[in-house]
Order: sequence, then structure tokens, then C-alpha cells
Amino acid sequence: MFDHLEMAPPDSILGLTEAFKNDPRTNKINLGVGVYKDDNNDTPVLACVKRAEERLLREEKTKSYLAIPGSAEYGAVVRELLFGVHHEIVQSKRAVTAQTPGGTGGLRVAADFIHKLFPKSAIWLSEPTWDNHKAIFKAAGIEVRTYPYYDYTHRSLAFDSMVAALENTPEGDVVLLHACCHNPSGMDPNLEQWAALAVLVRERGLLPIFDFAYQGLGDGLEEDAEGMRLFCTPGAELLVCSSFSKNFGLYNERVGALTIVGASADAADRAFSQMKICIRTNYSNPPAHGGAVITAVLRDAELRAQWVQELTEMCQRINGMRRLFVERLQAQGVKEDFSFITRQKGMFSFSGLTLEQVTRLRETHGIYIVGSGRINVAGITSANIEPLCAAIASVLRG
Ligand code: LMR
Repeated sequence: MFDHLEMAPPDSILGLTEAFKNDPRTNKINLGVGVYKDDNNDTPVLACVKRAEERLLREEKTKSYLAIPGSAEYGAVVRELLFGVHHEIVQSKRAVTAQTPGGTGGLRVAADFIHKLFPKSAIWLSEPTWDNHKAIFKAAGIEVRTYPYYDYTHRSLAFDSMVAALENTPEGDVVLLHACCHNPSGMDPNLEQWAALAVLVRERGLLPIFDFAYQGLGDGLEEDAEGMRLFCTPGAELLVCSSFSKNFGLYNERVGALTIVGASADAADRAFSQMKICIRTNYSNPPAHGGAVITAVLRDAELRAQWVQELTEMCQRINGMRRLFVERLQAQGVKEDFSFITRQKGMFSFSGLTLEQVTRLRETHGIYIVGSGRINVAGITSANIEPLCAAIASVLRG
């Protein structure tokens, strides 16, 4: 049966990591997948995570299954981080959370839920967006549409075009928004624009679904949630897919969440009961360890403070590298103005390099970045910045 199958293309992001590993060149640089590196090119386990794990190892009593939606305590800490402890949504219990295998697991459950319960709804994704978004929603059988998001000429948010497109969406459709640190563009709406989007989404009767994978890697833990919280008016419904891969460095633990906010606690419970079927028929129940680490850190004042400190250091290193990147490109004689990179938020720089230039960087210089020109700034180090900028300058010179 398999003889006639065609070879599938490699994944546009994770496939690059495989290709990078197989590249024998010793001076190669991987700036593809969004993984944080410290200045020694390592992806360390956070100290707060190690301390929490030591405690868990001592105290853990069972490896028995979690419930279908995972740990209730984990759900509570997720909601407090998303909305704030005193938020009406948290207090009124009209938000319910499923612990999911990474943010991707949450997105896929959300997709199955939408397709099963609202089969006529299409989903609107930003253009551009994370490469896997389209694939996830298509795989679930949902019609995928796009709205303009990025102005490639002015390297800014295409806010007016975005609004114009969303104003023409049918009631009952779903719109996916990146809560902060838009992947790949690094361009987020400002608060005024978020407020206008919240009104538009409500007036058009759209269901917003937030992909929140970078909380704390933009302007701060609270600041990064402000846009999304503007949608959380009394009675509003929304879904939030969040992840601790990046802000806790827990990539391979696959720890994420899907939070469903209903108009009332009763509506949220009914929707959640449906969502549990989507989970049960997908991965049954989530892995426990990552969620236990998150709960242990966020419920302990000292560990939490240590996490905030470590997250702040990550952010500062990334932003420092953004500035240095722009400076060193200039020093290499690059004429184009790359200062827009310092205005982008999160891990990525949407460089504006073309697919042809990206291919030349890989083939000639062993530098791996995503085909869209997205560079993982969190992978730039003091040791690789000069060869990186020299290679980009040479490719730009043609
Ligand atoms: C990325 O965008 O690089 C990350 O979210 C990792 C992934 O799974 O694609």
C-alpha cells in the first residue's frame, strides 16, 4: 500500500532543524525554529524549573493518568496568568482550561471543536502567520481564509486593510489573533488598535481565538496580555491557546493549554464537555510533567520571582541582539535600513529577505532561516553575529 505514496515535503520550520543537523559544515548557524539560545548557543533548563523538578521528584507519588482536561490546579494558574487573578472571567468561573500537549495540541483541539460544533464556520488567519496554523485548521476540515496583516512595503501593521477584511466576514466565523509577538512578523497592534478590533469582532459576531505562545517575551507578562484582555468584556466568548514552550523553555515537555471562555459558567461547562470528547478522541489525556512544573513554579512566590527574573534576562538578551544585528549589518556596509527590526517584538525578526536570498544563505553560508525570511533572533550569539551579518551583506549585494 505504501509503494505508491509520494514523499511529503519537509516541514517548513522543523524540517529545517533536521536539514541543519545533517549539514556537515562546522560553521553552520541555525536561526530557523523558534528556540531560545543563550550567548553560549545553549538552550538551558531554567534554574526555577530545575528547582521545581527536584521537588517534584521527591514528592511525586504516582504516574497514573490525569483527567481528560489535565490538572485542575494547572488550569487555575494558566487562567490567572492569562487574565489576572482578580479578573471577572476568573472570578465568575466562566473560563475553563484544558492542559494540552503544547500550544499546537491546544490549537488542534480547538480546531476539532470548531469543526465538530460549528461546521459552517470558516477560520480567518493573518497573512502572514505561523506556517503550521493553516495546516492545523485544514487538517481538522475547516475552511481557511486570510486577512491582510503585514504591510511588506512599509514593514508595519496593515491595520486598515485588516479591519476592512474583517468587516466583511460572515457572522459566526472564527478569527485567529496572535495575542502578542506576532509570529512571524513581530508586529502587534497597539492598545488603541486592539480596542477597535475587540469592538469589530464583537459587532460582527465573530469568535476570536488567541494564539498566545510568547507571553512575557514582548513588553512584559501583564503588558503582553492587555490586547487580549480587551476582548474579555462581560458575556464575551473566546478561546485562548497558550504555551509554556518559550517563556519557560519547556519545549520538549509539550506543555500548553486551551482555555474556553463562555458567556456564563454554564455555557462554558457545556462547551467544555464537548471539548473533552475532542481531547479523548485525540490524545486521551495530557502528559503531566510540564504542567506540574508550571504549577509548582507559579504557586511558589520564590520560584515565581526567579522565573520572572530569568524571563526578563531572556528578553533583554534578545532585544540586545536585535540592536546589535541592525548595527553590525550597517557596519558590514548594508545600505538598506534594517532599523525596523528593533521595533519587532518577540523571538523573531521578519527580515524581508526573499526566498532566493534565504536559499543562498543556506546553500552558500550554512545559515538556516525560514523561507519567509523569518530569523530567530533568540539564536544569534556574540560568536555567530559577525559571520551572519557578513553573509547577509554578501547575499544582499547579490
Ligand atoms: C516556531 O515558530 O519556530 C515555533 O513555534 C516552533 C514550531 O513548532 O514551529
